[in-house]
Amino acid sequence: MRHLITTKDLSANYIDCLIDSAKEILRYPRAVANDCDGKILAALFYESSTRTRLSFETAMLRLGGKVIGFESAASSSATKGESVADTIRIVSSYADIAVIRHPKEGAALIASMYSSVPVINAGDGGHQHPTQTLTDLLTISKVKGRLCNLTIGFCGDLKFGRTVHSLLEACLKYSGNKYILVSPDELKIPEYIREDLRAEGVEFTETNSLSKNIADMDILYMTRVQRERFFNEEDYVRLKDAYILNKQKLAKAKPDLAVLHPLPRVNEIATEIDKDPRALYFKQAEYGAYVRMALIKDLFREED
Ligand code: NCD
Repeated sequence: MRHLITTKDLSANYIDCLIDSAKEILRYPRAVANDCDGKILAALFYESSTRTRLSFETAMLRLGGKVIGFESAASSSATKGESVADTIRIVSSYADIAVIRHPKEGAALIASMYSSVPVINAGDGGHQHPTQTLTDLLTISKVKGRLCNLTIGFCGDLKFGRTVHSLLEACLKYSGNKYILVSPDELKIPEYIREDLRAEGVEFTETNSLSKNIADMDILYMTRVQRERFFNEEDYVRLKDAYILNKQKLAKAKPDLAVLHPLPRVNEIATEIDKDPRALYFKQAEYGAYVRMALIKDLFREED
């Protein structure tokens, strides 16, 4: 049985297959409308979510399957002190596949160890968020036609931003990419990812300035400062508006820059950018449902 817990579980070849499959589903959505007939997906959301939960639910419903689950820890037996291990043991006797989001790093891995059905990590604390990565890669592939030989900028909260960690590790599987990591000193990329960058021998820069570096980027991945992972509100308030992408900054960028953001956005992208053809974040969110359809379909194929 296969699970998807981190992007380390994905080979470049497998990512390419999922992206091709998602593109095919985008073209012919009706062709897969019954692929999950009779199957049940359990959505276990211990932490809030709009896009991820609704896109997983949409994906399963569009495949003809059904969805059960909860949308906050408060409405689950976690409030009574039940462990993730016990919950997943039960849930996997009700459902055929489980999606879990949890505020603690490692929760999805624990779930996968006790589950009798495939488990998909929909975000574990500040660690990983591999299906957002598939969404991001589908968007990049659609707009650039490739996932290699790109200069990719990551900007914002690179310390706690799980979408950054997952996407960066996935991009390392493709050759010729260069990385520009823009963050305040306090929110730099974790050392374990810096080690991966070094081990791969790729070109990367760490900087505080978005304005000075935006002209070199093909992709700009903006992120929100992850308020819920901070130890104190004071630090959050000091750092939350460190980078705001506005028209003035975007004027320095390449005409074919792709601006991505996993959303939700707070202040880091001015709404004046939304109509710029380089702003792809709403399209990106739309693609999320299709790539999740491709993933669910594939995990069941492996099961058969
Ligand atoms: C991200 C997440 O939850 O990590 N959102 C998402 O899944 N689309 C990013 C964020 O919350 O900032």
